[in-house]
Amino acid sequence: MKDVFSQSSIKIIIPMNYINTLQFAQQLDKEDELFKFRERFCFPKLNGKDVLYFCGNSLGLQPKTVKEYINTELDDWAKYGVEGHFEATHPWFSYHEPFLEPIARLVGALPSEVAVMNGLTVNLHLLLVSFYRPTKDRFKIICEDDAFPSDQIGRASCRERV
Ligand SMILES: Cc1ncc(COP(=O)(O)O)c(C=O)c1O
Repeated sequence: MKDVFSQSSIKIIIPMNYINTLQFAQQLDKEDELFKFRERFCFPKLNGKDVLYFCGNSLGLQPKTVKEYINTELDDWAKYGVEGHFEATHPWFSYHEPFLEPIARLVGALPSEVAVMNGLTVNLHLLLVSFYRPTKDRFKIICEDDAFPSDQIGRASCRERV
């Protein structure tokens, strides 16, 4: 095994002697320290069996804990109404603060430079509005042909404004 990012906080381990067999894949699964996290997610079933799930889009598998977390917020909303911003188990007013340090580490920024907010489409739009500065010679946005519909709308609205 070779750790190709040993100088950074990102660890990606590349198997040195890759063998294209099911047995080799199962062996790697057994050795993978992240393998146990599989148990934490709900896998859809097909013909009574767990599917092999390779979808890498933003909506991943449902964590088994998610109902409990959402119910906590709904219960606090019912109990406190707007005061939930300050009184809830996880006060909504400052919900983003615990994420600052880990997200900053993830993207290589300072905690004062990041904010965790919005959905994906809104954030893509904000990125384009902030950083898309087309010139006569440099104006193309390269994107897959059949991108997620809301991504296409965000991109089109940016192009229309120039
Ligand atoms: C590529 C991509 N773009 C946009 C979205 C929409 O995300 P949101 O509802 O957070 O705007 C999704 C959601 O699955 C997605 O996978």
